[in-house]
Amino acid sequence: MHHIQLKNKIAIEKMRTAGKRLAEILEKIAPEVVAGKSTWELDLLIEGYMRSSGLKPSCKGYGTYKHATCISLNEVVVHGIPSKDTILKSGDFVKIDVVGSFENYCADLTRYFFVGVVDERVRRIAQVAQTALDKAISLIRPGINLSDLSACIQQEVEQAGFGVVRHFSGHGIGKSIHEAPEIPNYGKPGSGPVLREGMTLAIEPMITEGSYEVEIMPDGWTAKTRDRKLAAHVEDTVVVTRDGVEILTRL
Ligand code: MF3
Ligand code: CO
Repeated sequence: MHHIQLKNKIAIEKMRTAGKRLAEILEKIAPEVVAGKSTWELDLLIEGYMRSSGLKPSCKGYGTYKHATCISLNEVVVHGIPSKDTILKSGDFVKIDVVGSFENYCADLTRYFFVGVVDERVRRIAQVAQTALDKAISLIRPGINLSDLSACIQQEVEQAGFGVVRHFSGHGIGKSIHEAPEIPNYGKPGSGPVLREGMTLAIEPMITEGSYEVEIMPDGWTAKTRDRKLAAHVEDTVVVTRDGVEILTRL
């Protein structure tokens, strides 16, 4: 679908409910992201909290995907598959990406966590990804071009010396996880669709310490940096409002 759907108040309220509940859940699980835990256990914990708060895990059954969350460590950029064999250890940089729906409307967010003591490099790449996302979101209002967000993210990330992943993008979101428009994390300002009130967007910078090239593992999902250097990923779902933006996935 090429057309960007505008959501009405009722749809937005459902996405807000999904978003707030997901944000609460990812706050609540922070103390569980510790050395010795498997990403499998974290996934089950999050799925349990989602179900008991009335959210449906949208990733489960999305194509061949079987889990509620994607949990990506260190050089894994996105789509890390929860596994009993992936045990957290001190120093790990953990990105948890989850989509949940409330009354059929989805919200999508990614938060990061540090296990024990992490390297300064980890703290820095995480901070740059977060700042790029926050700056892009702060630009949003009706009338700007979508590519203004892409350009903002690229500029912020590259000026800090990091790379912007080309292979994956942000996206529109609503009843489906992925709707139009595609939102690349790089590009020139002043092109692409004009933002309008009621558009709902999942914005998700994926950035790398070295080359931005990724490599998909034989499992068909896990995306690592080709050079196995660190990657960061953050994501929020937002709605374009009459005079600005509301972040649906923050408390
Ligand atoms: N949250 C991911 C995104 O932003 C979707 C994960 S793919 C899935 O596109 F298969 F896990 F659903
Ligand atoms: Co997304």
